[in-house]
Amino acid sequence: MKKMILLVVIASLSIGISAQKFDNLAKTPPMGWNSWNKFQCNVSETLIMGMADAMANSGMKDAGYEYVVIDDCWQISRDENGEIVVDNDRFPHGMKFLADYVHSKGLKFGIYSCAGKKTCAGRPGGLGHEYQDAITYARWGVDYLKYDWCNTSTQEAKSSYANMRDALFSAGRPIVFSLCEWGSNKPWEWAGEVGHLWRTTGDISDSWNSMINIFNQQKDFARYAGPGHWNDPDMLEVGNGGMSVEEYKTHFSLWCMLAAPLIAGNDLASMTPETKSILMNKEIIAVNQDTLGRQGVCYRDNGDYQIWIKGLANQEKAVCLLNKSDEKKTVLVDFALLAQAGTGRRSGGSRGGAPLTIENYRLRDLWEHKDLALKETSLYIDLLPHTVKVYRFIKK
Ligand code: GLA
Repeated sequence: MKKMILLVVIASLSIGISAQKFDNLAKTPPMGWNSWNKFQCNVSETLIMGMADAMANSGMKDAGYEYVVIDDCWQISRDENGEIVVDNDRFPHGMKFLADYVHSKGLKFGIYSCAGKKTCAGRPGGLGHEYQDAITYARWGVDYLKYDWCNTSTQEAKSSYANMRDALFSAGRPIVFSLCEWGSNKPWEWAGEVGHLWRTTGDISDSWNSMINIFNQQKDFARYAGPGHWNDPDMLEVGNGGMSVEEYKTHFSLWCMLAAPLIAGNDLASMTPETKSILMNKEIIAVNQDTLGRQGVCYRDNGDYQIWIKGLANQEKAVCLLNKSDEKKTVLVDFALLAQAGTGRRSGGSRGGAPLTIENYRLRDLWEHKDLALKETSLYIDLLPHTVKVYRFIKK
């Protein structure tokens, strides 16, 4: 018996040592900026420093954005020792300098690599250099790693990503680990113990169809998300010009309802007032960053018209009415019913107490930034094409 206990202890200790991601990171969905959506391979030290400045000075940092992430194309080759070589023309002072600069703004620094031989843009990938790269990243002061899945041939996804997780862990610097294998190997089923976020689909592009098509694929993933492990429907396109202001509001609202990482992908140095008012809508961001860490669920699905509910801490909830169609819709919304609606999981906010009713809440319109004056508990609401309404049920 004693032997048996000893064996169990040794076994669990060794699991603990060899298979770990950093805990206590990404307790709420990560917020930041990434270079890819707007700049693709056109990255440089000047650009990244400019984005860090803009994040700190535009109000983005105050709104919660934190990580400044360089995507593909910063790396150019490997040297004779296998060390990754930074493109010296574009990053003349190297990555440690850049990380220090980003840190000096009170922000965090992120970088990109790939589990395959080469990155998606054909730069050197991480395969066979995982432990070496992890040490390099730790030395530079990297806080966030996005790890892609191009040129992986017959590699197995879970073990490839777990290998990089272990490499990061053994290098000792806490790094948020972002898996980017586009949902190809159902990462929601296994990545919770490997990384802090995982892409669920292919790449977003800056159009309504792309955005809503990705959104439509998120419905079944809610139960896999929680503090420290998030579904990632890809980065934001808000402010990049391919959608209307109303469509960008919808995009941002839906990502907040999904508890998705909020990684801006626009030029932070030249934001219109509309773009700023979307990306820095603190009331909507609070829905995304809620400490309960629950992903929203689809409560009513009438095809083009849907109601989504996201359970929040303190028995509160956010409700999003979505009109995906090209026509205006007028819908009758029963707020009394919504007040009592569950949020997709047991204890949908009413653990231990009597279920709450409309009497217990005040209703806040999170885009109008004002409380809703309800004369009746049901209300006809106009929804223009491709728009949302987002309400928060706030406990009185
Ligand atoms: C893949 C990823 C994108 C981006 C590019 C870079 O397509 O999914 O998000 O990182 O690679 O090459």
